[in-house]
Order: sequence, then C-alpha cells, then structure tokens
Amino acid sequence: PLPRPFAVPLPVPPVARPGADGTSYELVQRPARVEIIPGTRTEVWGYDGVFPGPTFDVRAGRPIRVRVVNRLPVPTSTHLHGGVTPPDSDGYPTHLVVPSGLAGRFRPGHGGQGAHGGQAGQGGHGARRPEAWRPARETFVHEYPLGQAAATLWYHDHRMDFTGPQVYRGLAGMFLIRDEAEDALPLPRGDREIPLLICDRAFEEDGALRYPSVDPALLGEPGVTGAHHQGVEGDVMLVNGAPWPVAEVAAVRYRLRFLNACNARRLDLRLDPPPPSGAAFTQIGGDIGLLSRPRPLDGLVLAGAERADVVVDFGAYPVGTRVVLRNRLGAGRTREVMRFDVVRRAGDDSAVPARLARVRTLTPRDAVRRRRFDFRLGGPGPHGARWTVNGLPFDPGTALAAPELGTTELWTLTSDFHHPVHVHLGHFQVLSRNGRPPRPSDAGWKDTVDVRPYEVVQILVHFAGFRGRYVVHCHNLEHEDMAMMANIDVV
Ligand code: C2O
Ligand code: CU
Repeated sequence: PLPRPFAVPLPVPPVARPGADGTSYELVQRPARVEIIPGTRTEVWGYDGVFPGPTFDVRAGRPIRVRVVNRLPVPTSTHLHGGVTPPDSDGYPTHLVVPSGLAGRFRPGHGGQGAHGGQAGQGGHGARRPEAWRPARETFVHEYPLGQAAATLWYHDHRMDFTGPQVYRGLAGMFLIRDEAEDALPLPRGDREIPLLICDRAFEEDGALRYPSVDPALLGEPGVTGAHHQGVEGDVMLVNGAPWPVAEVAAVRYRLRFLNACNARRLDLRLDPPPPSGAAFTQIGGDIGLLSRPRPLDGLVLAGAERADVVVDFGAYPVGTRVVLRNRLGAGRTREVMRFDVVRRAGDDSAVPARLARVRTLTPRDAVRRRRFDFRLGGPGPHGARWTVNGLPFDPGTALAAPELGTTELWTLTSDFHHPVHVHLGHFQVLSRNGRPPRPSDAGWKDTVDVRPYEVVQILVHFAGFRGRYVVHCHNLEHEDMAMMANIDVV
C-alpha cells in the first residue's frame, strides 16, 4: 500500500563534517535499513548509510579531500556533479573502488564485467582498452580543489553500466559551495534555506526498492528488463528520501535548492495554490551558481540532474494555507511532490536583490570551434536498447572530441527523445533552442541541458580547470548505462 501523502515530515539530510584538519572528509558507502514507507523497512545503499547522503557545505577556493570507503557488495565510482575536478578525482565510470570481498573479481587491468563493462573475453566495448580500468581497493581519496563560485552541486555514484541502479538504491547527496559574494547577499539563510532532493522510486510490498535490473546483484550482466530501456520511473515521489513529505514553514521567504535526482523523470514544478500575487518562484541560481538577476517563474522545468536555486515567499499566503508542490508532468500520484504548510507569522529581513552576481554572457564569437553531438537510439542492444552519441556506444578507449583547456566551443546537440545532456568539467550557457532563445529556466551557467525530442539545442561550453579525460553523457541514467556516453579529452 502506498503511503498517505503529506503525512511524513520533510527530513533534511545531515551535514557532512570534516575531520580535525577541517578539510578531510570520509564517506562510508554501506547498506542500511531505513524506514521510507511508514511501517516498512527498505534496504538502501547510502553514503554513511543515509539516503540522501550527507550534504556537503563547503567554501569556494578551499580545497577538500573526500575519502570514500566502499562497504557495499558492488564496485562504485563517486562523481561530484558540476565540480571542476581533476580527472583522477572526477569519478570516471571505470575508476572503480572495489570492496575487499570482490577484489579477485575486479582485477587491476581487467576490471569490469558485463556486456558494456568489458570483462576480458566478453567483448564489451570496454574490453578493447583494458587500461581504461583503474580499480582502487576499497577506498579512494578524491581531491576537490573547489576553484569555482558558489553553486548547488550534488554527488552520486557513476559506476560503469550500473549508475542507474546504484543511484536508485540511494547513492546521491547534495554538495553546496558558498563564497563571500553570495554571503554578502541578503538571501534567506539558516533553517530558511532548504535543499530539496527530489526523486521517484517504486517499492515492493515489503518495502524493498523495486528496480528492473537484469541482474539484481549488479555484478553480472548490466541493463534493465522489459520495457524499461527508455528509463526507470517510480510511482512514489520522495523529497530528501521521504514520500510526499510535508514541511511547516513560516510566512516568510525561503531559499529552496531544488535538484531533480530522478533516474529518468522530468519535472515541471508548480505551487498550488499559486501565490495571490507575484510569481510562484523567484529563480536566483541554476546548475552552476547564481544568475546575474533574479527571474520570476511560475513553473520550474527540471530534467534529471538539473538544479534550480529559488526563493519562495510564503509571506504571500495567509497563515493556514497548505501549498502543494505539484509536478505538472506527473500522472496520478506522481503529480504531487510535497506540501508546505504556512503555520505562523515571523519577521523577515531577507530580500532578493535586483543584482545577484556577475555572470559573463558568452556569445558565438567566444567559440573557437563548433561540434555536433547527436543523441539517438542506435538499435537493439544486449538488454533492450543501445543508446548512442554520434552513432557510437560508449568506448572508454576513444574520445569523440579534444577541446583545448581555456577555450569555449559551440556545440549543437540533437536528439530523438528526451535526453538531459550533461558535460563533465565544462560549464556552459544555453544559446538557443531550435534557433529560438532558450527557455527562462535555461538561464545562467549550467552543466546539464534538457534536450527534447527532435530539438536542436546550441550551447557554448567553456573548458577551464584541468586537462584530461572526462565524459559527456545523457543523464537519463538508464540511457547512460546503455552506452549513451562519450569521452572528451581536454588538451
Ligand atoms: Cu551527474 Cu556524469 O553525472
Ligand atoms: Cu537520454
């Protein structure tokens, strides 16, 4: 039985705490049994055994290191999504952290398994270049220089061929970077700033997560069964790991940091009722930091992995109002996400200033080169579909592009379906959609863009930070696992 909506209080994930040096963190990936659906127990795989994982709250320009310890029954690779991270620490899909019990199965130089993963001898596309596999034993220390402005990032599992099921089991958390320029703004803060990690999941009667893996142990063949190759959706909406939660709020402004952490579901978030006056949301930031100016929006369209940093003024509602956050793209119960109950008045000295940040607008004249990436179903694969980039399934051994560090390129993205296209390392601005101006919610620096079926999206991508091999991929995690990924070598 599905839980009653708006019965569970909205949880806020714990904040990650560094060790005594103030810069070293440890995350232990482990299974845990938690109560998600009231009255049942669900096994999740969590960073520190919690789902979502602990929220990082860190400062721009102050490097940290995060030691990931893998106590799960499967290999993992942890990616800081939106981070400007050296290639060794970026969570490349085959940079596996292998739990000690599996060390013999994932040998250095051979690594993976399965049809896409390329166990030596099985003929997957990874097998051609076994040197691309770099298993680390049980722990790996990620260096995060954080040489970037304040932004709402997130971290999640990125294991080759198995990202979908492993994120689904709980390996995702928020990662907030702050800086002085943002601190100086009078935005809502403290408990009036709430991260909202939204995802959909399906459950068995006994509370277990339901995901249609070909191999539920996630050690053999990758892929999903039956009709799920377009992406796995659940019928329960979770916010911060709780089903259709409710948050009591004061009649004041709140800063809400929305993340669409769904494997495949797109969101178009609305407030019901809308405020009696003014727009529902004032967007102040996108994927990668603050916008130059706030934008009033009545709906927030978020494809997988996209973020929106918004201010909602619950002071526009009379005390006693129950404001439902709806997803206009949902059906049935997935049309509702959570509820905000405006329960009391309170003082509010926050404001949304007319100027938020300096954001340089890129133009096509900044681009030193043009490229085209076509995201398309390439025909049947070993398990359902083979999704391709420029006609090719992912091959860890080859790169589709070699952009130069410090330059900007104009990329044209085309597609046959909804594909949220994500670029590692490079941050971009959306230039156009089908030759027309981008959507309001495309504003600012981004790392993921919602490319719609048969749409032509142009982006201006800037490569800064590090040279090395990174990936570009569809963030529909089932498409990603079914090979819709490509290497780019930043040179
Ligand atoms: Cu959020 Cu390559 O991933
Ligand atoms: Cu896709």
